[in-house]
Amino acid sequence: VQADGEEYRPQYHFTPPAQWMNDPNGMVYFEGEYHLFYQHYPDSNVWGPMHWGHAVSTDMVHWEHLPIALYPDSLGYIFSGSAVVDRHNTTGFGANDKPAMVAIYTYHDPVGASEGQIDYQTQGIAYSLDKGRTWTKYEGNPVLPNPGIIDYRDPKVFWYDKDQSWRMILAVKDRVHIYASPDLINWEKKSEFGAEIGAHGGVWECPDLFELPIAGGESKWVMLVSINPGGPQGGSATQYFVGAFDGDVFTPEDEQTRWLDYGADNYAGVTWSDIPDSDGRRLFIGWMSNWQYANVVPTYTWRSAMTIPRELVLLKQKNNYLLQSKPVQELQSLIVGEQAMGSDLKLTSATQKIMVNKVAQGTRVSIKNAQGEMLVIVIEEEQLVVDRSKAGKSAFSDVFAARHTASLGDIVPVTLTVYMDRSSVEVFVNEGELVMTNLVFPEHSFERVQLSGPGQMKMVALKSIWGEQQEEL
Ligand code: FRU
Repeated sequence: VQADGEEYRPQYHFTPPAQWMNDPNGMVYFEGEYHLFYQHYPDSNVWGPMHWGHAVSTDMVHWEHLPIALYPDSLGYIFSGSAVVDRHNTTGFGANDKPAMVAIYTYHDPVGASEGQIDYQTQGIAYSLDKGRTWTKYEGNPVLPNPGIIDYRDPKVFWYDKDQSWRMILAVKDRVHIYASPDLINWEKKSEFGAEIGAHGGVWECPDLFELPIAGGESKWVMLVSINPGGPQGGSATQYFVGAFDGDVFTPEDEQTRWLDYGADNYAGVTWSDIPDSDGRRLFIGWMSNWQYANVVPTYTWRSAMTIPRELVLLKQKNNYLLQSKPVQELQSLIVGEQAMGSDLKLTSATQKIMVNKVAQGTRVSIKNAQGEMLVIVIEEEQLVVDRSKAGKSAFSDVFAARHTASLGDIVPVTLTVYMDRSSVEVFVNEGELVMTNLVFPEHSFERVQLSGPGQMKMVALKSIWGEQQEEL
């Protein structure tokens, strides 16, 4: 294992080149590029004054780092938010043949916050006319002032085709607010949702709202809401609701609380805007950490990674709705070398995709090393279990060493797919009908993977994109 502070650097997950990162922000597709902005503090490896870091990709797998897009200003730090392409030039920032990219984000005024004011979070906008490379903040900011509520943040904006205008979903303490606007500048409140439904163990953050088709020509609206703390494994997690949206009001299908990911480390994720109809996918990426220990995980030159990108698909099961998180097909380009098959396989690197077919109750996959460290994935008693309690370093947090369980519910497990990187393990049952995303910090590299119980295992090595980039430098 390297000892230069980079030993846990993910090799194919997105990480900032250096220093602190949290939520993914402003994901938008424009002229062949996927943009990823992110909560970033460039001066330290712990959370601080927030900027928007920036990267672009043509496949969500290989990323090019770009200069910081948005810096804090006199109105405050730049907290989480979204970005859209203003195709109809509703803002007047662009032209009809040259649409502006517009970012809608939260201003967090640290002075107001420290002086005990309550209205220190407001929403502002900025635009770019050069494919996101440089940004101009709107001189009339904030566009949405604070009505007197402490937690008022994380605007996710989308174009509402039916009446050719914009919608914003905003996290407001223990609920969301929905606003409408003709021009991204003037906003009118339409409704509130959530005070009496869903998980409420913590504050609501980073919502998203979008329509998804389901088999049979029907479609439903899905609302994502991150919550911290109060997740199924403690701390941060993302719940979702399935329902109807009439342009003003979201009406849930039922009262159930559903979780997008049952691991400890997938937070604040939202979906890409402006994916062309010819593609049609709803693409998601999350922050692969948890506020319980995000600031103290044992990495130093940088902190935090994103999950692998996932496609969200809405399934109808018996009388239930389920949001599936499928690893995107672009990840196939990471595969290098031959496929290995067997029940006891030697790892040639820390970056692997492990696939088990014909799983059933009693399937157990152990990823281990000679020093006795072990990450265990089990299907038993109608549950998926991922046990990282003996999988490496954990002294940095009281809650990190844990055994995570999730009920399979109506899911009949057939396949397990595991994406391993140097400090994470993402487990997908049936291509994402149930997911557990977890960080893991083995003291020594894992050396082998063993299968016991039902199943057939194969494994392929994945490319080390980060390593290859470092070699080129
Ligand atoms: C979620 C969050 C957001 C906020 C941002 C600040 O992790 O707390 O609500 O905008 O992080 O960095």
